[in-house]
Amino acid sequence: MSATLRRRDWLKQSSLAALGLGFGLPALAKTGLTRRSTDFFNTENSLINLGSNENPYGISPKAKQAIIDTIPFSNRYAFNLPDLMGFRATLAKFYNVAPENVLLTAGSSIVLDLFPRYFYKPGGNVVTANPTFFILPDTAKKIGFSVNAVPVGSDRGIDLQGMLSAINNDTQLAYLVNPNNPTGTLLKPAAMKDFCMEASKKTTVLIDEAYLDFIDAPDNESMIPLAASNPNIFVTRTFSKIHGMAGLRIGYVIGHADSIKKLDTSNFTESWVAVSDLSAAAAMASLKDEEHRLQSKTKNAAAREYTIKSLQALNIKPIPSYTNFILFPLGKTYEGNFAEFMLKKNITLRQMDCLGEKHGRVSIGTMEEMQQFIKVMKETWKG
Ligand SMILES: Cc1ncc(COP(=O)(O)O)c(C=O)c1O
Repeated sequence: MSATLRRRDWLKQSSLAALGLGFGLPALAKTGLTRRSTDFFNTENSLINLGSNENPYGISPKAKQAIIDTIPFSNRYAFNLPDLMGFRATLAKFYNVAPENVLLTAGSSIVLDLFPRYFYKPGGNVVTANPTFFILPDTAKKIGFSVNAVPVGSDRGIDLQGMLSAINNDTQLAYLVNPNNPTGTLLKPAAMKDFCMEASKKTTVLIDEAYLDFIDAPDNESMIPLAASNPNIFVTRTFSKIHGMAGLRIGYVIGHADSIKKLDTSNFTESWVAVSDLSAAAAMASLKDEEHRLQSKTKNAAAREYTIKSLQALNIKPIPSYTNFILFPLGKTYEGNFAEFMLKKNITLRQMDCLGEKHGRVSIGTMEEMQQFIKVMKETWKG
């Protein structure tokens, strides 16, 4: 079957495509095709995937080698493999905390689903920003929390004062993503520290730093040291973004040793069997490959700058981004769903209905992919 034919089949079968909701794992599963979809996602043949904030440069070659070296031991649990038993300690050392401060998880989405379940109290509420990453607020609502999502400010940045004011005696959890998804905005470390200290006097605080490593110091300052010493503050992170390991499913929570122990022995699976041998081996190797992370960060920044400037040249007003995606208002150019429209142009991205109007969210792919995206925008944008 030719690539074009297969692509056509894939488009036809994908019900999510019709809804313009983008392409998660379930969408691919529904296609009936295998997940070996790289031939659909390159510029030459067909679809350019700019929908899921993935790292287009792939995993570190050292991580790849570590997976190959670990395959012969895949019949063993990680706790029987001395090297892999060191994963928690390796991660802890990397962040200058103790192994007892670290909870390993299979990706960080599961953290965002389990946190509201763990902290649920009838009559309780969760405070977060609007817009922000959907999983935690969605789960919170589903299980009966009321969610107080404080609108971002006119500069599109998270309103920390507004969030602090929204916290009351019934607040069980405050969830803050920094840099935020989908806006891409950043809060400076000093403001974040003040927020964490204030909010944690009244409730549990979860800071999601999925995208923090796309920016440089001094803005790239994690709240991990605060979390390790304060039982009411947690940080969650993932290997899915800067490490390029979305498919390997590795995330973690860092917090006070007592709090981590409670999580580990409750809703959360015992942390040393949560992550597969291959993923743990890859993560440990990737931590050591700073060069690979630097390359991803540098290439992402260059492609992001190109995209922002090109959109601005069309008189579009993208929100300044500190991440590997950009959110921009769509005005009135595109009738119907923007994601569906772009799919017909062989590009997957997201439409976000937020901030009072239709927005597009485009992930930063390679420079060539972004040039292709801009080409389509130039051809179709009516200003
Ligand atoms: C802010 C944020 N947190 C967490 C995640 C989940 O990442 P994963 O489950 O791949 O670790 C994402 C995914 O896009 C995200 O945008």
